[in-house]
Amino acid sequence: MYRLYLCHGPNCTARGADATRRALDAALWDADLLAQVELLSSGCQDHCAHGPLLLIHPGTCRYVGVTPERAAALVAHHLRDGDPVPAWQATPAMRRGAS
Ligand code: FES
Repeated sequence: MYRLYLCHGPNCTARGADATRRALDAALWDADLLAQVELLSSGCQDHCAHGPLLLIHPGTCRYVGVTPERAAALVAHHLRDGDPVPAWQATPAMRRGAS
């Protein structure tokens, strides 16, 4: 069972989190993963300049710039195939306040 936390803080919302959520819903439906994945909205996850931000549990994958296109690809790669996409993951330097 995966649990997805899609940031709906003010910055990620302004950067398209609503469209990302719709794309995630559609991709989960298409991949027949609705019974295995819970999609939740979260508050700010401190990566505001790189949103929309998606955290996936279990594990510590925090994806940045999750456009609708990336959302569909992440469902296929990470959730369906168990193959995370390192190129789209947050780095410590992206965290708000990192120096
Ligand atoms: S508003 Fe989404 S990480 Fe801050």
